[in-house]
Parts: sequence; structure tokens; C-alpha cells
Amino acid sequence: MPVNEIFEDRMLSLGLARVSEAAALASADLIGRGDEKAADQAAVDAMRTQLNLLDINGVVVIGEGERDEAPMLYIGEEVGSGKGPAVDIALDPLEGTTLTAKDMPNALAVIAMGPRGSMLHAPDVYMDKLAIGPGFRTGVVTLDMSPSERITALAAAKGCSTRDITVCVLERPRHEAMIAELRTTGAAIRLITDGDVAGVIHCAESEKTGIDIYMGSGGAPEGVLAAAALKCMGGQIYGRLMFRNKDEEGRARKAGIEVLDRVYTLDDMITQDVIFAATGVTDGSILPGIRREPGFVTAETILMRSKTGSVRHISYKHPLG
Ligand code: FBP
Repeated sequence: MPVNEIFEDRMLSLGLARVSEAAALASADLIGRGDEKAADQAAVDAMRTQLNLLDINGVVVIGEGERDEAPMLYIGEEVGSGKGPAVDIALDPLEGTTLTAKDMPNALAVIAMGPRGSMLHAPDVYMDKLAIGPGFRTGVVTLDMSPSERITALAAAKGCSTRDITVCVLERPRHEAMIAELRTTGAAIRLITDGDVAGVIHCAESEKTGIDIYMGSGGAPEGVLAAAALKCMGGQIYGRLMFRNKDEEGRARKAGIEVLDRVYTLDDMITQDVIFAATGVTDGSILPGIRREPGFVTAETILMRSKTGSVRHISYKHPLG
């Protein structure tokens, strides 16, 4: 295989950081302006332009939606100069459009890249998710356990009381019963209004974020992005697709999924080594958001490689004008 067709994750990673930086910077002017669509569009345009500068033969596996509903960065879109290695790309130029429009915490620009065939082609349906950070035996918590059983099992594994566990959950009516059950354990619940990629990543840095476990349903594409992050940081994630109707089942079949109730582990969602970059848009527990200073805006990016477990924090000062 010619050298430039090998997935050189080390060399490509810095380019990937530029891609998430560009998306975050483009949405900066739209933070707190109440216009989700404009913020998303700005991030999508910038991410696509920057991605197309990379010497890769890329295909968007997790993107903005199906081709007929998303004109840019749609699933199946070919990106990059076409000169380099064949890669899969999972992206969300603005994870937390509402968070951005309302200037609420933890909006991120996110992208992951791996060799062709390394990522689950998750359809745009919900996924039931469960995640914990590194350092636990595989399967210490499972999707088949009830929410309260998971808390009890995790507390036993940590050697602490269930009251010392903090769970992160998306605040949605569909989670009311789960939240009520979690309350019976005494665990603390951090409710988030959006942004479950960040929610899952929080588990991998529990000393910093205070979150031990993530559970509940959210977008399946976000589940794959979160799995890419945990592939680099360590931890466990489990996901099971959820279908509300035949149309959604059809989306899964179109994506090549035959066993609709399969539980995906981290290594099922991300089968080979990947690189992952996220840039803060609004301030959050993992990354600060875009900061404006006279003459500059500053963007903070986390860049990770699963092959080495390396984690870089990159601060980029972008001159204005
Ligand atoms: P957007 O950035 O596309 O608005 O998604 C935000 C998000 O909160 C995701 O993090 C999460 O997976 C999904 O929406 C949850 O979907 P819903 O709002 O339908 O519960």
C-alpha cells in the first residue's frame, strides 16, 4: 500500500483538530443569539471546508443526516482531497445547537476519524445508552440491569455508597420513570438539557466532572461519536437502537443493520483505532468555550488518539480581521 494511503493517525490528528476548531470558531458569533439553525449552518460550512483540505479519501458515516435531508456533510458524502487513505468520519459540527443558541454549557464541535470500515453506520434513530469511565471490570453495569441495579453495582465496584454516585441523564419526559427509580437509590442526578456526547465523555474524567455514569436514550449518531471518545479515553459504553416506527426500522436496515435489538459494545461501535477531536463552543466541564479578547478569539480543543491513549489540549488564538 503506498505510504500516503495508510491511516497515519499521528499525522492526521493535528489536521483533525483544525477541523473541529474551524467549526467551533464559525459558530462563535452565534452563541446566545437564539438562532439554532444559523449556528449549525455556520459550523457545518466551516467544518466541511476545512475537512476538504485534508489529504484523505473520506466518507461521512455519522453526519448531518440522510442525503435528502442534509445538503452538506450528509451520510455517505465523500470528503477530503481524495488523495490519501480511505477513512470513515463521524462528525457533529455543532453538538448542542440549542445550548449554543441559548449560551448554555457544554456545546461542542466534534469529529472522529478511523480507517474505512471502523465505525458503526448508526441510523438517525434513538439509542439507549449506558456509559462509565475506565478502571472497572467489563460488564460491571449492563443495559439489561435496571437503572437502580446499575447504581448498586457501580457503587459496589467503587467501594462507596450509592449516595456517592452521580448519574448524568438527559432531562426528557421519556426519562421520568428512570429518574424516579434512580432517586430511590439516593444517587445524585445531573440533569442536562442537551449534549449527550459531552454527557458520556464526563464519565471518563469523573474526578474533574463529578459524573460517574451516564444513562438514557439520545441520538444513535451521538452514541457512536461518544464511543469514539471513550475508545481514546478508556471506559465502557453500551448502546441499543430504539425504533418508534417502521420507517425508523427501515433506516437501520438501509444502514446494513439486521439484528435490530443488538446491544453494541464500544468495540462493536468503533472496531479499530481512531482519532477524536472536540472544540468547546460554550463553556463546559470538559473544555472552556470560545473566548473573545480584543483582536482575538481563543478556541480550546481536546485531541486524542486511541492507539496511544494520548490526550492533547490545544489552545488556539485566532487573530480577528
Ligand atoms: P443537536 O445538537 O442536534 O440539537 O442534538 C442535541 C442532543 O441533545 C444530543 O446530544 C442528543 O443525543 C439528542 O439531542 C437527544 O435528542 P432529543 O432532543 O430528541 O431527546
